[in-house]
Amino acid sequence: MTSSRTPLFAANWKMYKTLKEAAVFFETFLKLLPQKMEEEIVIFPPFTLLYSISSFIGTKIKIGGQDLFWEKEGAFTGEISPLMLKDSGCHFVLIGHSERRKYFAETNSMINKKVLSAFEYGLKPVLCIGETLEEMGKGMTRQILTKQIQEGLKGVAHSDFEKLVVAYEPVWAIGTGKADTPSQSNETIRFIRETLSDLCGIHEADKIRILYGGSVKPQNIRGFIEQPEIDGALVGGASLNPEDFARIVFSRVLS
Ligand code: PGA
Repeated sequence: MTSSRTPLFAANWKMYKTLKEAAVFFETFLKLLPQKMEEEIVIFPPFTLLYSISSFIGTKIKIGGQDLFWEKEGAFTGEISPLMLKDSGCHFVLIGHSERRKYFAETNSMINKKVLSAFEYGLKPVLCIGETLEEMGKGMTRQILTKQIQEGLKGVAHSDFEKLVVAYEPVWAIGTGKADTPSQSNETIRFIRETLSDLCGIHEADKIRILYGGSVKPQNIRGFIEQPEIDGALVGGASLNPEDFARIVFSRVLS
């Protein structure tokens, strides 16, 4: 972590929590937040909770959608537009999570349309990238990440890059309890920043926050955020528990 980029901790709740369960989470979590904090916190709940949550979380926490469809409106049954996310109080949107790539056949070109649409409507995209176990085994990690970055960010305006967040989530580390090592992920994230700088220049690439995600827990977060290239974390399972998520967000202060 470096002082020039604001640390960002994001909770990906996936398809978990009813409204009642979310209210219970925030009852505890809000009490654990300090008066003044430098960390930025974003919760990505299911779509059904966005609006109600935005009305009771206050100003210290932001919310985001777990996905979006690139059109503003239209006959697209079941989809949610960037305008609707904004309308529900969102500042951020997750794009290209590996579960969407795997179970919903999202391609880099679909992801690209989503990224461009997010920027157009004033949402900050959190672009998720990462290699599978098989790709890592074949030594293809850098090749895969380069493709995901180049194709996913095609046509992004130079001035939008600083609003971008990238989450490096090795697919083999998600929900497996087998996190990447801090030093290895730092190296990969350094490579990601170099690849981004080919698109937008070093100056802009230096402002982009790059998170690590994949089996982040209160027990291992310190190792990651002590690394100079890692600006925070995208947390799945451990973000469902308010105490655990607070221990992750504030690990530097708490220990
Ligand atoms: P995990 O999930 O923390 O449960 O591994 C991370 C993610 O999918 O974003």
